[in-house]
Amino acid sequence: MYICVCNAITERQVRASVDAGATTLSDLQFELGVATCCGCCAATAQEYLPGGRCSSVCNVNSVAMDVAPAAAGAVVETDAPAANGFPVRLVAAA
Ligand code: FES
Repeated sequence: MYICVCNAITERQVRASVDAGATTLSDLQFELGVATCCGCCAATAQEYLPGGRCSSVCNVNSVAMDVAPAAAGAVVETDAPAANGFPVRLVAAA
């Protein structure tokens, strides 16, 4: 998804910049150029900064779990439920 249409900056790029240490809108503007044209995306970009609504996905940064090897494309259901209680399904990469 594009966060900044003017500069074609995606959500993935914004998240990567935050993961790399961006903590302010100025950091994102310097690193990516987000919100440096019309400015319509500034509020949305700020939501990805630490403490913002989109700063993590469901407040889960990473999950570690043991998974048995599986054939490519196989769907594996783990024993560990996600934070929302639903089972975690993984699809083995090719
Ligand atoms: S949409 Fe980001 S500067 Fe215009």
